[in-house]
Amino acid sequence: MEERAYKEKMRLSIQANLDAYKTSLERNKLGQFATPTVLAREVLAYGLSLLPEEQGIRFLDPAIGTGSFYSALLETIGDRLLKAAKGYEVDPHYGEPAKQLWEDHSLDIELADFTRAKPSANSFNLLICNPPYVRHHHLESDEKRRLQAEGRAAAGVKLSGLAGLYCHFIALAHRWMSASGIAGWLIPSEFMDVNYGKELKRYLLEEVTLLRIHRFDPSDVQFDDALVSSAVVWFKKDKPPAGHIVEFSYGGTHAAPAISRGISALELANEAKWTRFPRQEVRVALNTPILSDLFDIRRGIATGSNDFFILSREKIERLQLPMECFRPILPSPRYVSADEIDADEQGNPILSQSLFLLDCRLPEHELMKRYPSLGRYLESGKEEMMSRYLCKSRPIWYRQEDRRPSPFVCTYMGRGNSRSGRPFRFLLNHSRAVAANTYLMLYPKPHVAERLHGRPDTLRRIWESLNNIRAESLMSEGRVYGGGLHKMEPRELAMVSATEISRLINRLGSF
Ligand SMILES: C[S@@+](CC[C@H](N)C(=O)[O-])C[C@H]1O[C@@H](n2cnc3c(N)ncnc32)[C@H](O)[C@@H]1O
Repeated sequence: MEERAYKEKMRLSIQANLDAYKTSLERNKLGQFATPTVLAREVLAYGLSLLPEEQGIRFLDPAIGTGSFYSALLETIGDRLLKAAKGYEVDPHYGEPAKQLWEDHSLDIELADFTRAKPSANSFNLLICNPPYVRHHHLESDEKRRLQAEGRAAAGVKLSGLAGLYCHFIALAHRWMSASGIAGWLIPSEFMDVNYGKELKRYLLEEVTLLRIHRFDPSDVQFDDALVSSAVVWFKKDKPPAGHIVEFSYGGTHAAPAISRGISALELANEAKWTRFPRQEVRVALNTPILSDLFDIRRGIATGSNDFFILSREKIERLQLPMECFRPILPSPRYVSADEIDADEQGNPILSQSLFLLDCRLPEHELMKRYPSLGRYLESGKEEMMSRYLCKSRPIWYRQEDRRPSPFVCTYMGRGNSRSGRPFRFLLNHSRAVAANTYLMLYPKPHVAERLHGRPDTLRRIWESLNNIRAESLMSEGRVYGGGLHKMEPRELAMVSATEISRLINRLGSF
C-alpha cells in the first residue's frame, strides 16, 4: 500500500481507538469530533486551488486532533512544495499519538492551547481547521473575557459573550495568516443567523475577503456523533475589493454542491439571515409587509410545569377539582393531527385529548377555603414547583399568565423532510383554548381584528394564506439544527413576508 494511504488508514484506526476511550460528554467539552477523510480531502483540494500554483504551502491547523487535514494535505498537494506544517492540540490524549504518527514528517505538532499560543506572525498561507464546537456556556467567564480581549487585539473583532469557542479561534488565527493567505473553517452554520454571529459576519465582510460559504444539507449530518449543521467558510486575508461577490453553495458535497449562487457583499451586509442563500433570492423590496405588521406574535404560555398544571378531564374529575378553575389548552402539536380545531358549545376544542390548564387567580388562603380539593392538589406539588424559577418568581406561584386564545397558532419546531415537506403548520383555532409554549400564537393587530370581526370566511382565507407561505420562506427566517430540525422564534416568524395576507386585509377595508 502506498505510504500516504497507509498513514491515513493508521490514523483512522488510532482515531477510532482514542474516541472509544472517551465518553461523549468528555468529547463535547473539547469539541472533539473528527473530520471524515473524504470531506477533509475535498476541503484541502479546494484550499490548494485558491493559492497561486507556484506558491509553496505553509500549512496550519490550530485544532489538529490526529491530523485529518494534514493527512488530506499530503494526499492532495501533488508536486507543490510543502514549506511548513504546524498543528496545535490541547489534549495529549489525541496529541501524543498524533505526534508519534507524524514524527517522520514535516508536521510540527505543539501540545498546547492554541488560544494561548504566541503567534509566529503572518506565517501561514493555508489555514484549515475544524475548531472545537464548544458553546459559550461551557467557557468560564474569565476565559471568555480573555478570549474577547485577545480577539479584539488580533483582528479587531468584538465578539459577544454568547459566541462559541470556534468564533474566538477564527479571530485569534487572524494574526497567524500571511497576507493573501487562505483560510477554510469547518464550523457550525448557526453564526450565519444568530445575534452572536453578527460580529463574525462583519469580520468576514470587512476585514478579509469572504470567498465562499458551503453549507451542508442538515438532514445529511456530516458527523455521526455531533448533531450540528455545518458550513465551510473560505476567506482570503486581504481587504475586500469593491463590488465583491461571494459564492454560496448548499447541499450535495463540498466539491459538487447541489446549488450555488453568487451574492454581493453589499447585499450580505444588509441581510441578517445568511442561511437563506443560495436557496432564496436576495430580499427585493424593503417595504413589503411582514407578519408582524399584521399580528402580535407571542410564544404560548410557559406554565412552569406542564405535567403539574395541565390536566386531563379525567384527572380533574377523578380528583374532584373545580372545573371553573381550569381553561382549555391545546395538546402538544404531535397530538393535533388536524389543522383546523373545532369547538363544542362551551368553546372547548374537539380533539382526541381534552386538556385543561389550572388557571386560578385566588390567593392561596381563599382558594384553600373555597376549593379544598384543589388546595390539596396544589399542596402536593408546591415544594417541587417552588424550586422552579418560573413558579418562584410569580406573585401567586400557581397563577398563569393572563392570555387570550388566538385564532391562529403555529407549530414552530419540525423537520423539513417530514412527509408534507413543511416543518411548520398554522392551525386555525375556533376554540377558546390557549396554547403552551410548544406553539407560537398569532394575535391579529387591532386594525386587522377590526376588519375580521364577524367575517369567518376571511379568517379562513388568512389561515389558508398562512399555510400557503412557502416552506423555504419560513425556513429561511428560522434556524436549523443538525438532523434537519427547524425552529422559529417569535421574532423570526415576525419577519416572514406577508404580502398576500396584507392584500387580503386591505381589500376588506374597502368594503
Ligand atoms: C473538532 S476536532 C478536529 C480535529 C481534527 N482537526 C479533525 O478535523 O479531525 C477539534 C480538536 O481541537 C482540540 N482542541 C480543543 N480545544 C483546543 C485548544 N484550545 N487548542 C488546541 N486544540 C484544541 C480538541 O481536542 C480536538 O482534537
